[in-house]
Amino acid sequence: MADSIVILTGAGASADSGLATFRGPGGLWEGRQVEDVATPEAWSLDPAQVWRFYQMRRAALSRVQPNAAHRALAAFELQLKRRCIPFVLVTQNVDDLHERAGSTPLHMHGELASLRCEACGARCRDLQGLDPNRFIPCPRCEYPRLRPDIVWFGEMPFHMSAIEDAMAGCTLFLAIGTSGAVYPAAGFLEIARAEGAVTIINSLEQPGNLTPEDRYVEGRAAEVLPELLEELLTEIGAE
Ligand code: APR
Repeated sequence: MADSIVILTGAGASADSGLATFRGPGGLWEGRQVEDVATPEAWSLDPAQVWRFYQMRRAALSRVQPNAAHRALAAFELQLKRRCIPFVLVTQNVDDLHERAGSTPLHMHGELASLRCEACGARCRDLQGLDPNRFIPCPRCEYPRLRPDIVWFGEMPFHMSAIEDAMAGCTLFLAIGTSGAVYPAAGFLEIARAEGAVTIINSLEQPGNLTPEDRYVEGRAAEVLPELLEELLTEIGAE
C-alpha cells in the first residue's frame, strides 16, 4: 500500500526552543483561566487582557529559534517530497517555528503572526506591533481593533477538511509533543488507527489517548525526532 503520512505537533515540539507548553509545570494555563484569555467571550468582555496575553506570547516568539525537532521535520518533509510520498504536517501550535525551519504546516489553531478583523474579515500579518497595550486597527475598514487570528475554545479549528482528507488512507501517523487533551486534534490518533496506520507518539509523559496499539517514544522531541525520522525514512525507502 502506498505510503501516506500525517504528523501532528503540539506545544512539546516548540518546548525545546524555549516556548511554554500549556499543561504541566510552568505551562501557560498554570495560574491562568482559559476562559479569561482564550475564548470569544473573554475577547468581548476584556479585550485588553486577551490582547496582552497574545502580545506576551508574540514577544516570547520573537526571542526564540526553531529547534532540532523543527529542523528534522522540515528535512523529513523534503525527503518525502523528493520521493513523491504524500505528507501533511498539522500543527496545533500558533508559533511560526515550523515555517522558519522550512516546513509548510496547516495551523489548525491559527497563528500568532496573523491578525483578523471581525468586522470585514481582513487578515494581516504583523509580528512587529508588539506593544502589549496598543490595539491595531484594521487597515482595510478601520475597525478599532484586530483580533488575534487564533482559534479559541468554542470556535471551529481551521483546515479541517484538508486534515480529514489527509487522515483518510494515511499509513503512518505521528503525534509529537501533544497531551491529547483537546479535540478534534486528540481524535486524529484514533482515526489513524481505524485507517490501519502505524501510530507513533512522542512526548515526555504518556498522553491520555495512547493505547497499546501505539508505539510510544518517550523523550524530548529535539533529541528523539532526528533519529526517529531517519529510521522511518530508511523503512519507507526500503519498500
Ligand atoms: N519534547 C516532546 N514532548 C514534550 C516536550 C518536549 N521537549 N515538552 C513537553 N512535551 C509534551 C508533554 O509531555 C505534553 O504531552 O508536550 C505535551 C504538551 O501538552 P500541552 O501543554 O497540553 O500542549 P498541547 O497538547 O499542544 O495542547 C493542545 O490545547 O490549550 C490548547 O490550543 C491549545 O493547541 C493547544 C491545545
